[in-house]
Amino acid sequence: MQDINQRLEDMRDRARLGGGAKRIEAQHKKGKLTARERIDLLVDPGSFEEWDMFVEHRSVDFGMGEQKVPGDGVVTGWGTVNGRLVFVYSQDFTVFGGSLSEAHAEKICKVMDQAMKVGAPVIGLNDSGGARIQEGVASLGGYAEVFQRNVLASGVVPQISAIMGPCAGGAVYSPAMTDFIFMVKDSSYMFVTGPDVVKTVTHETVTAEDLGGAVTHTTKSGVADEAFENDVEMLLQLRRFIDFLPANNKEKPPVRPTADEADRPELSLDTLIPDNPNKPYDMKELIYKVVDEGDFFEIQPNYAGNIIVGFARMQGATVGIVANQPMVLAGCLDIASSRKAARFVRFCDCFNIPIVTLVDVPGFLPGTSQEFNGIIKHGAKLLFAYAEATVPKVTLITRKAYGGAYDVMSSKHLRGDVNYAWPTSEIAVMGPKGAVEIIFRGDIGDAEKIEARTEEYRTKFANPFVAASRGYIDDIIKPHNTRRRLCRALAMLRDKELANPWKKHDNIPL
Ligand code: HXC
Repeated sequence: MQDINQRLEDMRDRARLGGGAKRIEAQHKKGKLTARERIDLLVDPGSFEEWDMFVEHRSVDFGMGEQKVPGDGVVTGWGTVNGRLVFVYSQDFTVFGGSLSEAHAEKICKVMDQAMKVGAPVIGLNDSGGARIQEGVASLGGYAEVFQRNVLASGVVPQISAIMGPCAGGAVYSPAMTDFIFMVKDSSYMFVTGPDVVKTVTHETVTAEDLGGAVTHTTKSGVADEAFENDVEMLLQLRRFIDFLPANNKEKPPVRPTADEADRPELSLDTLIPDNPNKPYDMKELIYKVVDEGDFFEIQPNYAGNIIVGFARMQGATVGIVANQPMVLAGCLDIASSRKAARFVRFCDCFNIPIVTLVDVPGFLPGTSQEFNGIIKHGAKLLFAYAEATVPKVTLITRKAYGGAYDVMSSKHLRGDVNYAWPTSEIAVMGPKGAVEIIFRGDIGDAEKIEARTEEYRTKFANPFVAASRGYIDDIIKPHNTRRRLCRALAMLRDKELANPWKKHDNIPL
């Protein structure tokens, strides 16, 4: 018995060594942790149970029969994050460059299947040279098996991709189909075709970092949700992030005890809105001041800054925040912000997370670039997402809510459950100046008349009272009471039930 136990320990030690000390050193030299070191930081100490440590690839071509490493380049299993179950796979770049073989894919599929059965998130730590070149189509089949599971798991359990090294070619499509992508600056990249192919085909010269690094994908393409400085920061933030999420689509959002009183007044909010309606203010100030303990996990903070999305808690329970940001493009809705917010709203709806919408929107961004690139279809995504969402929806208009954008931003007409407005709200078809220039076009040359008409329009429509008189706004609330009123609304909605008509699935404008 002692012998066999010793043999087991030896085999485990061999597997833990992955591609060997030299390659581990090379990994560290690049500023990267190994697959196992990453898992150690991600899950609670001692909670990780590894599966398939002894799995090996089955290929024999190109001398592969003689090169077998137990585990075959991916560490898989389950553990807990702050006591809550998660499934993890972590690609080991020290073994065949973390490349994906048939056996490697089977290991990933096994944890995905189990995660779906028990209802727990899947976290993928990606660091791979892509398809195992020596295996050919068997590897491609392996990728497709993972893709299929990504799709089936979508909306059932949260799927999170951490990109911590190369992720190129078709391999990018597994992370792309997961709910969130986080990247590490300078050591990770994602692209469909790399710099060499780009050079050959389009004659552009570009580095891997510029083409598909963390900064590119979190500022230009919007493919990734957040960029972190290094592996350690990413993994610690991932732990914080997981705390906000329900484990699956049947669970309510997790509740964390808080000392932050639900009825805490915030007097400084009474002066948040500037006297001049064209002056911006920082919507993030409102978010930080009303959510529990000012704890807000922002998604895509450096992309489409005209809309803010992210997770926070109210009375301990997770909420999704969607807010126009007057500091960027005056808070207009455009293609990027509509897509960003639509995806976020749909995630919240999948996983029973109530949505708090803070509105200050002057309308959709005009311009040929917007129209030529399809703002009609992209703007419709956000409208569609809000309209189909059945989770509790609480909306607060702080200032502008003009035109179609008023309708889109979780209005009463899209089944908003509780719709509040601050007294500073302006809810109308358009701003006073634009409105007067259209309906009193004949008076354009007469500055005095136009001024008088503008003032008349402002007094009549640039307020919340018309909307409130129709019941489109449930109440006009004082800014300093915002936290109390939002908390009360969310508490009232805790057991909300609403179902959409039966369908196979909808046909959201893609
Ligand atoms: C097998 C691979 C591999 C791969 C790397 N290695 N990629 N082995 N299949 N795809 C091995 C290397 O042989 C090397 O082995 C070790 O991993 C480390 O690789 P290096 O090149 O030394 O590392 P580095 O210089 O950091 O470069 C990393 C890299 C490069 C940029 C990822 O290795 C690379 O370009 N690899 C090929 C990428 C690729 O073309 N993949 C297929 C893409 S198509 P030793 O023994 O020396 O340590 C694809 C399709 C997916 O993925 C389709 C899904 C639908």
